[in-house]
Amino acid sequence: MSSFKVCAFDDLQPDSAARFDVEGHRLAVVRLGDNVHIIGDMCSHADYSLAEGELDTDECTLECWKHGSAFSITTGEPQTLPATKPVPVYDARVDNGDVYVTITQGDPS
Ligand code: FES
Repeated sequence: MSSFKVCAFDDLQPDSAARFDVEGHRLAVVRLGDNVHIIGDMCSHADYSLAEGELDTDECTLECWKHGSAFSITTGEPQTLPATKPVPVYDARVDNGDVYVTITQGDPS
């Protein structure tokens, strides 16, 4: 289990998502208010970027732009079809203005 710097907190737009690649993992990094959530960027339905989808700040979901499945940014579970499998959730931490992700060996990329 290792912690890696992703970006500066200020690099993230408020209430939006951005894709970062860290140690071979595709991450959708979501800034929601003062908090950061990180889930896998690749939709579990097909290979499309969740970070390019729309963030619902009330439901705390990221909606895949391709077919509309909404994924919880806290559990990674799809809340709506057509996706049925969760995407990975990563531990995110903000320290001294920088965002860090914890990647456990064996985490799906
Ligand atoms: S590719 Fe994401 S819902 Fe189909």
